[in-house]
Formats: sequence, C-alpha cells, structure tokens
Amino acid sequence: MISNFAKKCAVAATTLAMSATLALAQTPAAPGRAGRPPRKAPTGGGLLAQAGSADKHIVDAEAAERGKKTYIQECITCHGPTARGGQGGSDLVRSLVVLHDRYGSEIGPFLKKGHQSQGSPAAQFSQEKIEDLADFLHLKVGDTLRTSPLFRAQNVLIGDAKAGQAWFNGDGKCSQCHSATGNLKGVGAKYEAIDLQQRFLFPKPNFGRGGKPTVVTVTPVTGTAVTGNLIQMDDFNVSLRDADGEYRSFARVPGLKVKVDDPYAAHIELLDRITDKNMHDITAYLETLK
Ligand code: HEC
Ligand code: HEC
Repeated sequence: MISNFAKKCAVAATTLAMSATLALAQTPAAPGRAGRPPRKAPTGGGLLAQAGSADKHIVDAEAAERGKKTYIQECITCHGPTARGGQGGSDLVRSLVVLHDRYGSEIGPFLKKGHQSQGSPAAQFSQEKIEDLADFLHLKVGDTLRTSPLFRAQNVLIGDAKAGQAWFNGDGKCSQCHSATGNLKGVGAKYEAIDLQQRFLFPKPNFGRGGKPTVVTVTPVTGTAVTGNLIQMDDFNVSLRDADGEYRSFARVPGLKVKVDDPYAAHIELLDRITDKNMHDITAYLETLK
C-alpha cells in the first residue's frame, strides 16, 4: 500500500513542484463534521492529496495541530515521535487501522476498546479528541511519504539559511540556549539534513526514556520537599528516583505541590508555534554549521 502511494507520489513529483499550496489549490474542501463548521480546505496533505483513494481522509491542519498535542501527551512514548513505532508501540503509519480510518471511524472504536495511553485511558477520549488524533495520524502518513528517500533532497533543504539565522537569534529564541559556535557547532556535519530537522523538532531520543531526565520536586502537605528524576506522573500519582537512587511515589492529594522541570520544554513548546517556513529556514541554517 505504502509503496503504491510512494510510486504515485513519485510520478506526481516529477511533474509538480513540491508545494503544499499547489496541492491545496487543487483539492476540494473536506466534508464538515457533525456539529462542527465545515472543514477548511486542507493545508497538510501535500502530495498525499493527489494520491490514494477518492474517499481518503483529507487532513484538516488545525485539527491535526490539536491532535499533535494529544499525541505528544498520550501516545508518543510508545509510538515514537514520527508515529513509526519502535518504542513498544507499533508503526502507526503502516497501520491498517489508520490507513482504513476516515475521520476517526477506525481509530475511535480501536481506542474505545480500552487502548493504553500515557495519561487517562484512551477509551475515555471524546469524539473530538479522537477526530483530532485521526487528523494528526493521517498527516503523519502524508509526511512519511513526502520525506521518503525519493523526496529528501528537495523537501528538506528548501529553506532560506539567512532567514533561518535571523529567526534563530530573534523570534525563534534558540539563542537563549544554543549558539552556532558553542553547543551547535558542527551540527550540520553531524547529521543528514532530514535527521537534523528531526533532531531539533524532537531532540529527546526516546520520549520518556533516554536523553536528559525531567527533574521533579514534590512537596508533601507536611514534610520536606523531595527532588529527583521523574519516573511517572498522572492525575493520581507522581513517582521519582531521588539522588540516592531511591524510588519515591506520592499520591497527588490536595495540597501536594509538584514542580516539573523538563529540559526539553522549550522544544515541546516549539512544536506549537513553529511554521513550515521557520522549520525549513532553520534546517537550511543549521545545515550551514559545518
Ligand atoms: C504504553 C504504550 C502505548 C501507548 C501509550 C499507546 N499505544 Fe497504541 N499501541 C501500543 C501497542 C503495543 C500496540 C500493538 C498492539 C495492539 O494493537 O494493541 C498499539 C497499537 C495501536 C494501534 C493499532 C495499530 C495496528 O494497526 O495494529 C493504534 C491505531 C494505536 N495503537 C494508536 C494509539 C494512540 C492514538 C495512542 C495515544 C492516544 C496510543 N496508541 C498510545 C502501545 C501503546
Ligand atoms: C530553553 C532551552 C532551549 C531552547 C530555547 C532551544 N533548545 Fe534546542 N535543545 C535544548 C536541549 C536541552 C537540547 C537537548 C540537548 C541534549 O539532549 O544533549 C536541545 C537540542 C537541540 C538540537 C539537537 C542537537 C544535537 O546535537 O542533537 C538542535 C538541533 C536544537 N536543539 C536546535 C534548537 C533550535 C533551532 C531552537 C530554536 C527554535 C532551539 N533548539 C531552542 C534546549 C533548548
């Protein structure tokens, strides 16, 4: 299935520029959801919008944005930053549940059967949340096709390095923690362009495991504050490993204070505000740091 899509995309790529705006102009608006305003014309489909079956899911970019947040909160630990699996969860880009899904039609019932998630049980997700997740996952299917080896060169290095540099030191606020001559020196030589893009979008190697630990300080209602590396946190409990390597778990009763310090917080927040243009420009800029 994927390879068929990819072949169709390859044909399309030879005749069309890799431009989402082009695809956008040629794709009809998707049907509205019950109880929601009609969907806007898609902006996330790209080449995928020209391939696949006629009734395929057309991605609503805003819904996919919301779905991305839920995905990061609830699914990324197991299914990975690209939804390709590899961290205990299966590859959702190749999943038949996702490929057959239309606006949550398959993903919804699958999650309602009681699928695990990082926070509350996935079975309790509202219909809206499920539809948003569906949009995000369909977007990921499209992204995977667009960033397949066939498209790498054109797709990743289309930004403007100068604009990227300006954004890095300006609105992007990257220079708060990084510098081209300091901790990002030589980063362009260290990674292929596609991996470079992936690294700054998702710098934490295995979300939840690996990478720099998230530090948490718990202050019980009575007693002294305990600081350590976060192990797990949900609405009911928080657990950590303290400096002595001791496992500590606390029920989140009223009055218990929890302060979380995630070294990757800036990068998670970045996912909410970065535009396609910023992303391409930054990639082009980082690529020059050889
Ligand atoms: C604790 C790990 C874990 C978390 C968190 C998790 N999953 Fe899964 N997921 C799995 C595993 C393991 C499988 C494969 C076994 C199965 O089908 O249950 C799977 C399978 C799936 C499948 C079916 C794939 C197929 O075609 O077989 C979908 C769809 C899915 N997950 C979506 C999600 C979504 C959406 C979330 C977040 C709301 C999520 N998962 C959170 C571990 C996880
Ligand atoms: C508040 C601090 C902070 C800000 C702001 C920030 N980062 Fe990071 N960045 C980090 C941390 C922490 C890491 C992970 C370093 C590690 O794991 O060793 C990281 C990792 C990276 C990496 C991967 C480096 C490597 O060698 O793998 C890149 C590239 C990167 N950031 C680029 C950016 C860009 C571009 C911006 C601005 C859009 C940005 N960062 C903003 C803290 C920040």
